[in-house]
Amino acid sequence: TYAPVADVLAGKYGVNDTVTIKGWVRTRRDSKAGLSFINVHDGSCFDPIQVIALNTLENYDEIIRLTTSCSVSVIGTVKQSEGQGQSIEIDAQSLEVLGWVENPDTYPMAAKRHSIEYLREHAHLRPRTNIIGAVTRVRNCLSQAVHRFFHEQGYFWISTPIITASDTEGAGEMFRVSTLDMMNIPHDEQGNVDYREDFFGKETFLTVSGQLNVETYCTAMSKVYTFGPTFRAENSNTSRHLAEFWMIEPEVAFADLSTVAKLAEDLLKYVFKAVLEERLDDMTFFAQRVNKDVITRLENVVNSEFVRMDYTDAIEILKNSGKAFEFPVEWGVDLSSEHERYLAEEHVGAPIIMQNYPKDIKAFYMRINDDNKTVAAMDILAPGIGEIIGGSQREERLDVFDRRLAEMSLNQEDYSWYRDLRRYGTVPHAGFGLGFERLVAYVTGVQNVRDVIPFPRTPGNAQY
Ligand code: 4AD
Ligand code: MG
Repeated sequence: TYAPVADVLAGKYGVNDTVTIKGWVRTRRDSKAGLSFINVHDGSCFDPIQVIALNTLENYDEIIRLTTSCSVSVIGTVKQSEGQGQSIEIDAQSLEVLGWVENPDTYPMAAKRHSIEYLREHAHLRPRTNIIGAVTRVRNCLSQAVHRFFHEQGYFWISTPIITASDTEGAGEMFRVSTLDMMNIPHDEQGNVDYREDFFGKETFLTVSGQLNVETYCTAMSKVYTFGPTFRAENSNTSRHLAEFWMIEPEVAFADLSTVAKLAEDLLKYVFKAVLEERLDDMTFFAQRVNKDVITRLENVVNSEFVRMDYTDAIEILKNSGKAFEFPVEWGVDLSSEHERYLAEEHVGAPIIMQNYPKDIKAFYMRINDDNKTVAAMDILAPGIGEIIGGSQREERLDVFDRRLAEMSLNQEDYSWYRDLRRYGTVPHAGFGLGFERLVAYVTGVQNVRDVIPFPRTPGNAQY
C-alpha cells in the first residue's frame, strides 16, 4: 500500500513515520551539497510533495536523471520542512524509478507554461498539468456535492435513457442512432428512409435531455433528478457549447416555478460552499492564475439572495441601457449572449433568475401563464458565462397541452405516453436543467467549456 500525497501533506502521518508514496515527478533540482529536491504529485491534491534524495542513495546516478512525468515509488521518512512553501517533506530511504520519460526534450508536457489551446490538443496528457488536475478535482467535488444535495433533500436519482425516440427540446438538434448499412439504406419511392428496418424498428437519437423521461418518475416518486450525458448536434462553435455535455435535471411534483427557482438557488449555493470548503487549494490556484475573482464571487453568491427578474422587465432594461447591441432588442426576441451578459455582469453583477419568457421562443411543454403570451419558464444567467440553467413549470392541463401541440403542429400520437401523465392523476410539477460544464467553467473561471470536460466533443472534433 502507499499513502496519497494529500494525506501526507495534511499531516495524517506523524513526523518520523515511514511512508511509501507513488506518483510522477513534477520538477527536480539538484543541490551542490550532494542532494536533490524532487517534487512528486499523484493527483490527490494541488500541491506536490517534496522528496529529498541524498547522494548516498545507491541509485543516485539515476535520480539525477529524473525529468518531468517520470513515475516513481518512494519510501521515506516524514519530516517537518525547513524550506519555504511546504510544511511537510519526505527524506527518501529509497527511490525506485517505475517509468522513464523517453526523450524529455520532445515530451509534450515538459514543465513550462503551455497555452490552454495547446493542452486541448493533447487531451490524453493534459490531466498531468496543474490546471487540468485542479479542474478535475473541482469537477469531481461538484458532482459529489450535487448528489449529496439531492440525497439530503429526499430526491431519487433516476437513470434516464441515452438512446431515445423523442426530441425533448423540439429544436431538431439530435444525433441519429442507427445500425442501417449506409451503402444500402432501405427507402420508399420518395427516398424516405424506412426505419422499420433499423435496429429499434424506428428512428432513434441520442437524448438532448432526460426531462420527459424523468417526468414519468416525478409523477410517481415526487422528487427525482437525472444526472447524465446529453447530446446536441448544434453547430455552435462557441466557448460554452459542446456536442456532448452533462446535465443535472431535477423534477418536482406539487411544485410551481417559484419552488424550482428556489431549489436552483439552494443547489448552486450548496455546491459552491462545498467547493470553497473542500477545494480551496485548487480555487486558490484559479484565483492566482485564471481569474482573480473566482473565490470572492462564489462567496458573494453564497451570501446573497438571487435577483429575480421578469423577461418583460429585462427587455425594458436592455432598451434603456444605451448600449448598441449586435442583435436588436424588442419584446419577443430570445436573449442573446451579449444581452445575458449585460444583464448579469453590468446591470446586476450577480446571477439572475430570469422568468416568464414569451411562449413562442420556448419549448412545447412549458406551462402557459394567464396572460396567454408568456410561459412559466426560468433561465439562470451567470456573469462571465450567461445561461447556466434552463427550466420551467410544465403544462399539466391536458386540454391546454393539446391546444399547444396543435398550435406548434406537433403530433399527439408522438406524445401519447407523455399525455398519459396528464390523463391519469395529473399534478402541477416543475424542473430545470443545469449544464454541468457551464457550472464547472463558472466555478473555476476557466473560459471555455472544452477545458472542463476530459474529452470535449465539438463540431469537427471527436479525437480519442
Ligand atoms: O435550456 P436547456 O436546453 O433545457 C433543457 O434541456 C430542459 N429540458 C431542462 C429541464 O427543464 N429539465 O438546457 C439546459 C442547460 C442550459 O442552461 C445550459 O447550461 C446547458 O444545459 N446546455 C449546454 N451546455 C453545453 N453545451 C451545450 N450545447 C448546451 N446546451 C444546453
Ligand atoms: Mg435554455
